[in-house]
Amino acid sequence: MEKKVSVKVCLGTTCFVMGSANLQELLDTVPSRYGDKVDVTGVSCLGLCSIDWEYSKAPYVKVDDEIIKEATVEKVLKAIDEKLK
Ligand code: FES
Repeated sequence: MEKKVSVKVCLGTTCFVMGSANLQELLDTVPSRYGDKVDVTGVSCLGLCSIDWEYSKAPYVKVDDEIIKEATVEKVLKAIDEKLK
């Protein structure tokens, strides 16, 4: 079975306030760019903001088991490209 990359965009309150609203476009961009090789979903709090809050590294996105801090669309697409190499 072909391996799929899983992308979870945190849309919890902290990440949302810290900019994950901008990441919602990934929910459209990723499927149109990668088709069914990548599963992208918006999730509620990944639980990372409370552990790592003092560093204010939200918003967080998880690509497989890799956590992307201060996520941007560019960073997430780059991480996906790495996984698909
Ligand atoms: S709101 Fe994103 S990790 Fe908590």
